Amino acid sequence: MISKTSLLFGLSMLAIASPAAARECAQSPDKRLELCVSVEGGEALYEVKRGNVTVIAPSRLGLRFAGEADPRFTAIGHAKRSSVDTSWEQPWGEQRLIRDHHNDLSVTLAGDTALNKAVGVTFRLFDDGFGFRYDYAAIPAGQTVSVTTDQTQFRTVGAYQAWWYQGLGQERDEYLYTQTDARRITLAETPLTLKGDNGLYLSFHEAALVDFPSMLLEGNGAGTYSAWLMPWPDGTLAKKAGPFTTPWRTVLVGETPGALADSRIALNLNEPNKLPDIGKWFKPGKYVGIWWEMHLEKSTWGSGPTHGANTANVKRYIDFAAKYGFDGVLVEGWNKGWDGDWIANGDKFSFAEAYPDFDLPEITRYGKTRGVKLIGHHETGGGIENYARQLDAALELYADNGVSLIKTGYVRHSGTIVDGDGGRQWFAGQYAVHHHLDVVKRAAKLHIAINTHEPVKDTGLRRTWPNWVSREGARGQEFNAWGNPTNPPEHMTILPFTRMLAGPMDYTPGIFDIARSGKELTRRVQSTLATQLAEYIVIYSPIQMAADLPENYEARLDAFQFIRDVPADWEVSHTLQSAIGDYVVIARQPRGQGDWYLGGITDEEARKLTQRLDFLAPGKRYEAQIYADGPGADYRTNPAALTISKRLVTSADSLDLAMAPGGGVAIRFKLLDTRP
Ligand code: NOJ
Ligand code: CA
Repeated sequence: MISKTSLLFGLSMLAIASPAAARECAQSPDKRLELCVSVEGGEALYEVKRGNVTVIAPSRLGLRFAGEADPRFTAIGHAKRSSVDTSWEQPWGEQRLIRDHHNDLSVTLAGDTALNKAVGVTFRLFDDGFGFRYDYAAIPAGQTVSVTTDQTQFRTVGAYQAWWYQGLGQERDEYLYTQTDARRITLAETPLTLKGDNGLYLSFHEAALVDFPSMLLEGNGAGTYSAWLMPWPDGTLAKKAGPFTTPWRTVLVGETPGALADSRIALNLNEPNKLPDIGKWFKPGKYVGIWWEMHLEKSTWGSGPTHGANTANVKRYIDFAAKYGFDGVLVEGWNKGWDGDWIANGDKFSFAEAYPDFDLPEITRYGKTRGVKLIGHHETGGGIENYARQLDAALELYADNGVSLIKTGYVRHSGTIVDGDGGRQWFAGQYAVHHHLDVVKRAAKLHIAINTHEPVKDTGLRRTWPNWVSREGARGQEFNAWGNPTNPPEHMTILPFTRMLAGPMDYTPGIFDIARSGKELTRRVQSTLATQLAEYIVIYSPIQMAADLPENYEARLDAFQFIRDVPADWEVSHTLQSAIGDYVVIARQPRGQGDWYLGGITDEEARKLTQRLDFLAPGKRYEAQIYADGPGADYRTNPAALTISKRLVTSADSLDLAMAPGGGVAIRFKLLDTRP
C-alpha cells in the first residue's frame, strides 16, 4: 500500500531526481554572443559565450527580500523573444545617430516565496555586449519591500587584468586606478574594466540607475564578481513599494579597448528623451570660470580681501570669454556659506544670498550685453537635506537671472551624506540616487542643465534627461592643483576605458601654466602642453572648461587657438588606437561641419604611432593643423615645448604621431573642399 507520505516523498524525490533544468538561450544579432538562462538546484543562473570562449560561467541571478527565506527557483516560464534594429538621435553627444540593434529574451523565473514567485528577467543582447534587469511585476501595488541581497554574479573564467580602485573610499570615485590581476579585486566601483588572456576586454557596469542603490562589485579571489549595493544606514539595500524593475546590469564585450569606448549600449538601455525641446535651451559649449584661481589659492571661495567671486573679477572673466568666444563663466563662492572650513558647512550654505561684493543681477545683465552666460554653482558640502529644502527657490533665482547651467557639488567624505533623518548616507545609495535625479527633473522644468560634481556615477541617464549634461566622478584636473600626488600621465590613458564608459566627464582640461614656477612634479600638472589640448578630444563632455587663468591663455595664444576652435558636440566619434594605461588616439567629427579633430595621449613613455587618416571623407583635402610636442618636450623637464605645423592631407594619407614622455597631440583637420 502506498501511504500518502511516501507518495509525497516520491514526488519530491522525482522533482530533485529529474531536474529537467529548463533552459532558454538567445544570441546577439551577429550570433557571436550567446546567453543562456537556466534553473538548476533551486538557483536561477545565466551564462554567456562569445564563440567558443566562455565570457560568463553559470552565475546566479535575483534579489532577496527582508522577511523571506531564500527562494528556490523551480522553472522558467513565459520565454519571449523580440528583436530591434533602429536608430535614434541624440540632441547632443559624442555621436548624433545611435544604432540600437539587439535581441531580447524575457523569461519569468518561478520561485517558491511570495516575492520571488514570478521574477521577470529581460536579457538584451547586442553585438558588443549585453544587459539584463529584473522585473518584480508581481509585487502587489503599495506593498513595501526591502531588498537585503542582490544575488547577481559575474563569474569569469581564466586570467584577467583589471583597472580599478577600492570602493567606499572617503573620496568617493576620485582615485587613481591600479592595474592588477583581477582576482585581487576586493570591492570595485563600476565601470570595471578587465582584459583577458583570451583576447577579450570586458567592462561591467549598470544602466538606468533610478531609485535603486548603485552597484559595486565584490571579488571572491577567484574571478567571481558579485553585486554589492550601497546600503541605507539601517543596512537595507533598497526600499521599494509595489512592482518595480531594477537598473540594467551590463557587460561590454570587445576585442579592443576601443570597442568598449565606442559601445553605445549604456545609452540604448535607457529610456528615450523626456525633454524633446532641450535643443532650445541647452547647447553644448565651452566655458571659463572663477575656479582654478581658488584651487591655486590665489583667491578664496569665502568672503574677505581675496574673495574670488566679486563683481569686478567676474566682469573681467566675462570680457575674456566674450573676446575669445566662450559661452559661459562659472562662478564659485558667490553665495553665503563658504566662510571657515567650507567642507564642514553642509548645513550652512545659502543658495540665494550673495556675498555683498557679488551683484547677481548686474553680472547677468552685463553678461547679456557681451553674449556670455553666468554658469551657476551649488556646493552642498554633502548637506543634501539643507540643499533640498532650498532647491526650488535656488533654481528659480538662477532661472530668473537667465542662468541655464548649474554645476552642483557634494564634497563630503563618502558615507557621511546627511539625509533628513540625520542619517549618514553613502554618496550613491538609493537616497542619493533619488536626490540627484530629483534635482535634474526640477531643473528641467526651469530649463536648467546640471553638471554634477562628486556625483553618483553616470549610467546613461542623459538619454532620458538630456539636461544632465556632465559629471565629475573621477580624479579630475583639480587634483593637479593640490598635489598629494597629482594625476600621473597614465591616468589619461585609463580614463577613456573606465570612467568614460559611463558618460561625459567635466574633467576641466586646458592648464597652460604647467611648470607653476618650478613646483615639484607631483605637485603640478604632469603632462605636456600638447596633452592639455588633446584632452578636449580624449575626454568627452558637451560642456568643456578652459580651466586655466585668462593671463595664462593670453601668454600662449598660439596654443589657445586649438581650444578656441575645438567644438563640444560631435557627429561621430572613433577610438582609433589604444592600449589601456599606455596610449589612446580618438577622432571626432563636429556636428554640422566637415572638419575632424584628433587627440592622442601617451603615458610617461615617449611613443610614435602611425595613424591612417581613413576616417576622413575620401577625395577631400584637409589642412591638418597639428599641435605636437616640440623638440625636447618632456612632462618632467620641458612641458611647454609645442610645435604647431600645417600639412595638406587626404584620407589616403597616414600621419606619424610623435608624443613625448607625458605628451600628446591635438589636430584639427580643416576641410578645404567644401563642394559636395
Ligand atoms: C569639488 C569640485 O570638484 C570642484 O570643481 C569645486 O571647485 C569644489 N568642489 C568646490 O565646490
Ligand atoms: Ca571633485
